[in-house]
Amino acid sequence: NNDLGSDIDKVLVTEDQIKARLVELAEEIDKDYAGKDLLIVGVLKGAVMVMADLARALHSHVTMDWMAVSSYGSGTQSSGVVRILKDLDADLTGRHVLVVEDIIDSGLTLSWLVSNLGSRGPASVEICTMLRKPEAAKVSIDVKYVGFDVPNEFVIGYGLDYAEKYRNVPFVATLAEHVYK
Ligand code: PRP
Ligand code: MN
Ligand code: MG
Repeated sequence: NNDLGSDIDKVLVTEDQIKARLVELAEEIDKDYAGKDLLIVGVLKGAVMVMADLARALHSHVTMDWMAVSSYGSGTQSSGVVRILKDLDADLTGRHVLVVEDIIDSGLTLSWLVSNLGSRGPASVEICTMLRKPEAAKVSIDVKYVGFDVPNEFVIGYGLDYAEKYRNVPFVATLAEHVYK
């Protein structure tokens, strides 16, 4: 069966909730970076949806760049090992950088990434994430913009995958048990 719907268990964040929250976050970001040159950095592949929607909700000029790092592989558990698969094109010297993520789970990916980017001479580095799992945190990180806190369950959709699938589900949900079998 190729239908996505039958693989969904519970919807945790709806499309409308995501859309409304992005408008609020974009307003804050527009205000906080007023008069500044902002570079938003999307962390591939999970952040593609939130980057595309957040960028279009902003009313200020931004430049967009991408980095690919991976810490999960195909499983559901964070390995803590971060690999750079694609580095930024932009030079960060003197730039205001906002890293955009789909989710902060253990925090290991972003804590590594923020220190990596911080060593490149930026004017500032902040984080915007659509989702955060407070109960899963293994390291604490300062996150300036958070869409929603979600419970410590495996979630998919809005960029988040299970074995590379379900990224195109337009809401955030848990998967039905039969998917894992
Ligand atoms: C996922 C997610 C975050 C990271 C969060 O990416 O998109 O980038 O894990 O986990 P952490 O807080 O425990 O480090 P993943 O490594 O699965 O790559 P992907 O974005 O290509 O799916
Ligand atoms: Mn990711
Ligand atoms: Mg993943």
